[in-house]
Amino acid sequence: MAAFELTPELQFGHAEMDATHEDFAVAVNAMCLAADAELAPSLDALIEHCIAHFDQENAWAESIGFPACHRNEHERVLAVMRAVRSELDKGDFGLARRLAAELPVWFRHHAASMDAALAAMLKNGLTMADIDQAPIASPCGGSHACKNHDHDEDGEHCHSHEGDAAHTCDGSGGCHSH
Ligand SMILES: [Fe+2]
Ligand SMILES: [Fe+2]
Repeated sequence: MAAFELTPELQFGHAEMDATHEDFAVAVNAMCLAADAELAPSLDALIEHCIAHFDQENAWAESIGFPACHRNEHERVLAVMRAVRSELDKGDFGLARRLAAELPVWFRHHAASMDAALAAMLKNGLTMADIDQAPIASPCGGSHACKNHDHDEDGEHCHSHEGDAAHTCDGSGGCHSH
């Protein structure tokens, strides 16, 4: 299997985030290349990396009001890693190898859709309040496939919508225009 590389489109010009993503690639590659006896320690190291990696991004995201769909994706992939780790203890090496092979695919999607938007906002000193003022797509893509919309205190304003920023949200993902 070809080594997982942080190709240019996965580098976002945020030095700390890019360095963390290099470390992620190294940890995934170590797991891909591990012999059976090394699979468990390499997955343990990857989980340890991801806890710190995701905690840092979650803190950045929280500081600017970035949508919770990003944090939720982190939690979902960590839950999968921990479940695979449990199966590894029962001798299921194949599942761990499949996880190692699929993590680069997950990362490319996650980084391009979530981390890239977060990095761009951090580099430009923007918060979600700034985004709400602009008629542009939300950082998580503006799709209602994302069910984790953040709402204002009155629960009415939906951050996750493309185009015209003036929408209300019925809380079910079915936004409608004023
Ligand atoms: Fe990341
Ligand atoms: Fe992320």
